[in-house]
Amino acid sequence: MCGIVGYIGHRDAYPIIIKGLQRLEYRGYDSAGIALFDGSDINLSKTKGKVEHLKKKAEESMSLKGGLGIGHTRWATHGIPNDENSHPHISNSGDLVIVHNGIIENYESIKKELTKRGYNFHSDTDTEVLVNLIEEVKKKEDVKLGHAVQIALSEVVGAYAIAIIDRNKPDEIVVAKLGSPLAIGVGENEFFVASDASPFIEYTNNAVYLADEEMAIVRLGKEIKLRKIKDDAIAYPNIMELKLNIEEIEKGGYDHFMLKEIYEQPRAILDTYRGRLNVDQGLIKMAGIDDNLERFMNADRIIIVACGTSWHAGLVAEYIFEDLARIPVEVEYASEFRYRNPVITDKDVVIAISQSGETADTLAAIKLAKANGAFVFGVCNVVGSSIARETDAGAYTHAGPEIGVASTKAFTTQITVLTLVALKLAKEKGVFPESKYHEFLIELESIPSKVERALESNALVEIIAEVYKNATNCLYLGRGYNFPVALEGALKLKEISYIHAEGYPAAEMKHGPIALIDEQMPVFVIATKKGHYDKVVSNIQEIKSRKGKIIAIVTEGDSQVKELADHVIEVPETIESLTPLLTTIPLQLLSYHIAVMRGCNVDQPRNLAKSVTVE
Ligand code: G6P
Repeated sequence: MCGIVGYIGHRDAYPIIIKGLQRLEYRGYDSAGIALFDGSDINLSKTKGKVEHLKKKAEESMSLKGGLGIGHTRWATHGIPNDENSHPHISNSGDLVIVHNGIIENYESIKKELTKRGYNFHSDTDTEVLVNLIEEVKKKEDVKLGHAVQIALSEVVGAYAIAIIDRNKPDEIVVAKLGSPLAIGVGENEFFVASDASPFIEYTNNAVYLADEEMAIVRLGKEIKLRKIKDDAIAYPNIMELKLNIEEIEKGGYDHFMLKEIYEQPRAILDTYRGRLNVDQGLIKMAGIDDNLERFMNADRIIIVACGTSWHAGLVAEYIFEDLARIPVEVEYASEFRYRNPVITDKDVVIAISQSGETADTLAAIKLAKANGAFVFGVCNVVGSSIARETDAGAYTHAGPEIGVASTKAFTTQITVLTLVALKLAKEKGVFPESKYHEFLIELESIPSKVERALESNALVEIIAEVYKNATNCLYLGRGYNFPVALEGALKLKEISYIHAEGYPAAEMKHGPIALIDEQMPVFVIATKKGHYDKVVSNIQEIKSRKGKIIAIVTEGDSQVKELADHVIEVPETIESLTPLLTTIPLQLLSYHIAVMRGCNVDQPRNLAKSVTVE
């Protein structure tokens, strides 16, 4: 959460930083700020609200000159979103200016100490404490900025990615990282720093990702040198060549990123299995599994750790692994797992699922699992992310950048990767009949075109959205493989339209939610032909008897549910394990349209952030 951008070089820093902040707004959008060095002093503008507000304010009130600057878009942790709490923060002398993503947990005690030494604070943030701590160390120890940052960070507890500049030394930016991401873009005699590569991808494909507890002094005319914060050891930067292109991170004619990303799913799923699935040869190639086959074959169980939508993908994976590969699976909220003293052994395989690869709780769960000897496999979308680097092995989803805060293509591509893993293990273990295995591969290959067909329901879904856009509560029901889809459908609606929604396993309805059903209650039921169809039809009857409004997701050609439901949305037929890849599509479209109709900010819903890098 929070996005940071910095630039030093021969261009004007202002447009690069503003555009970069707009690209990073998915990380938080409570407030924004920018600081620029104009050749003699640092000018600063910051405000509550979006980057658009900042742009207006900065352009009206400050000099936009200069080839050195840093900027920030905030997701508030300490201190409400207001102008004072916005970043950048300035040290008491006015020399040092910092932007920070993360939390300094021991800031209260440091603040007390600094207050005793005469420091004043104008905001409620932990960041203002940090910049003054750095200033105090710099003065007291009489050291350069880089060294002061190093000493100060050794005293703090928490998580951070920071960029800091000194008005007396305007040829460098000092950056450091622990727990929150930080990338350095390396251009021709210019450098960029950012929370991800999107702010600089049109200027350079070369990037260095800082590892935890690393810092760097990015100085004009010099090569980047990385240092370990604690022991001062020098590390040599690994300059990666990025494959991302600029079209991938723009809206491409869609009104919102979320809609673009929903429509990208056929391509994204194809990219996920491209080069891995070979139907003719009956093969699944995945280096992360092939190289560690023993660990998977000897695993007593698989523990899946994740948060949010990725946790829902994990639940679908539980059904797939147990059903196909006959391996016991437990699915854990990473935030609970990390704190509940779980039993983990070296016979466990832990699969960590994360779109961003930066979720703090998932990262902590991985570290715990590794410390207890488990083998950890990552399923991430963002290449080079912290989780991708922290895990023993893994498989990328290759979904392309997901910018809408409500996750869509990440969900379906995570399920695709996990299906490939389960199928591969099923084959290796010999627990899945050869003919069914082959049928499965063929069917998986046809999923992108079936998702295309599911997307054709868009016009109908829009009509249905119009009918239910003013609902105050909604229920989502599904069974088996589609129970997690019900949870995900409810989450999507809550996140972006602020309508209360709950997902339930259809049969659990009788144990509580049925009491809520009356003529006001829309109930979305996933009732595809495969898997407990008759039982779900009985649940639909029960809803109907209580006058609930039924919106059913059914298999193409279904007639039985059509008789009972108020609305039906058809998706193509497929094998049961693959139905979540299709049934989730109309539910994504539904929440999208309802949110648009209610005038909500679809891509940046209130209080949420795409990447939760604090616990
Ligand atoms: C946040 C996002 C969700 C996402 C969850 C887990 O809550 O808003 O869309 O599912 O984090 O994120 P991850 O990047 O670990 O998948």
